[in-house]
Amino acid sequence: MGQISQGLSERAEKVLVDGGNSASRGPRVFKPYPPYIARAEGCRLYDVDGESYIDWMNAFGALSTGHAHPVVVEAASRAVATGAHYAAAIPEEIEYAELIVDMVPVAEKVRFANSGTEACMAAIRLARGHTGRKKIVKFEGHYHGWADSLLLTTNPQPVTTLGHENSPVGIVDSSGIPQGAIEDTIVLPWNNIEVLERVFRDRGHEIACVATEGVMANIGVIHPKDGYLQRMQELCREYDALLYLDETVTGFRVAPGGCIEMYGLEPDIVTYGKAIGHGFPLAAICARAELMDGFGWGKVMHFGTFNAHRVGVTAGLAGTKTLAANGNAGFRHLTEIGQATVRGITEVVASQNRHQILCQSVGSLFQFYFTDLPEITDFRDYCAYADSAKFARFANHLRDFGVYISPSNTLHNCSTLGHSDQEVEVTVKAFAEALKTFE
Ligand SMILES: Cc1ncc(COP(=O)(O)O)c(C=O)c1O
Repeated sequence: MGQISQGLSERAEKVLVDGGNSASRGPRVFKPYPPYIARAEGCRLYDVDGESYIDWMNAFGALSTGHAHPVVVEAASRAVATGAHYAAAIPEEIEYAELIVDMVPVAEKVRFANSGTEACMAAIRLARGHTGRKKIVKFEGHYHGWADSLLLTTNPQPVTTLGHENSPVGIVDSSGIPQGAIEDTIVLPWNNIEVLERVFRDRGHEIACVATEGVMANIGVIHPKDGYLQRMQELCREYDALLYLDETVTGFRVAPGGCIEMYGLEPDIVTYGKAIGHGFPLAAICARAELMDGFGWGKVMHFGTFNAHRVGVTAGLAGTKTLAANGNAGFRHLTEIGQATVRGITEVVASQNRHQILCQSVGSLFQFYFTDLPEITDFRDYCAYADSAKFARFANHLRDFGVYISPSNTLHNCSTLGHSDQEVEVTVKAFAEALKTFE
């Protein structure tokens, strides 16, 4: 690894907290120091020292079309050149909303925001404003951004600290969160329908919404058990609570209609982030019109100078149209590449016996774990049985073989339109070589 990156890392340590701008990047996770990226194209990152890597992190999943996709570049450049943002009415916001309404069965109206965190905050406020109830249910290991009321039990913990599955202890992930902000948040283990049924029986009429990811994508990749999400939806209906599906990771990625389409769901509220903006800060809250009209003037407040940012909306629209073109060929490509990579890694793992590795995936999303378990089905499995320190060491080692993944095992890897079968082959070979030399 290069000297220029090392020098930059030393400078960063002096002026940036933890040498970076988010806990999952920079010198705290990339060892011995992060490669500083100078440019990117397709699925390749190029660092300031002249090294290049096949990128499977893709801006934490925000780049389904890949880096610098020509269509996105053209749209963004056009928007920048004609005034980046006016905070005024623009035709592009209508066109993107219309496309989303077409693609997402439950979306009748859309409100754009800037980040997944903002969209989640707005969704919770809308659910409370609509139902007049205070309690929200969130799940262990599900991350919905860093807002106070949702920042409970997102970080892996020793399982002994989590309490009994029937009455889990919500663990506050940050100092600075007042008790008042979290006292209405009920934290439960995911993929466990009995626990959810019990909570609904006990206090279902106090619950404004159940907030869930469709795929647990912040503890690697954990898919929902058969029928779990559907039963969750039934319980919400039975008790007049809202089902809030957070598709920040899965939206406009796992399928054109995301987890809604994949699992046949009808959530009341759904939020998007990451891939909806194709590299630009864009997010959206969607629901049926009657619910969304709650955001109307004087009701549930949601403002923002940069809402529906002109560059984000223009570039995002162009990127999503590209994925959807030719009968959603782009979405199929993402899944094919993701699944081919998983097959390759699984074969490499099976061909050796020095390391126990499990690979899990949903469509274009995948993650592997150093674990003896045949399957990881929830946060507690991960906390007890996945060796995240070993994963971090391996991810840092894999970079020496030209493959870039996040050293954080709780994140996920994903494919883009910039990846082809050729990069899958190179990645799988690199994985095999890296594993041979890894202790
Ligand atoms: C499911 C989910 N919701 C919300 C967020 C927050 O999104 P953002 O980082 O854009 O604020 C994330 C981010 O990783 C996420 O994975």
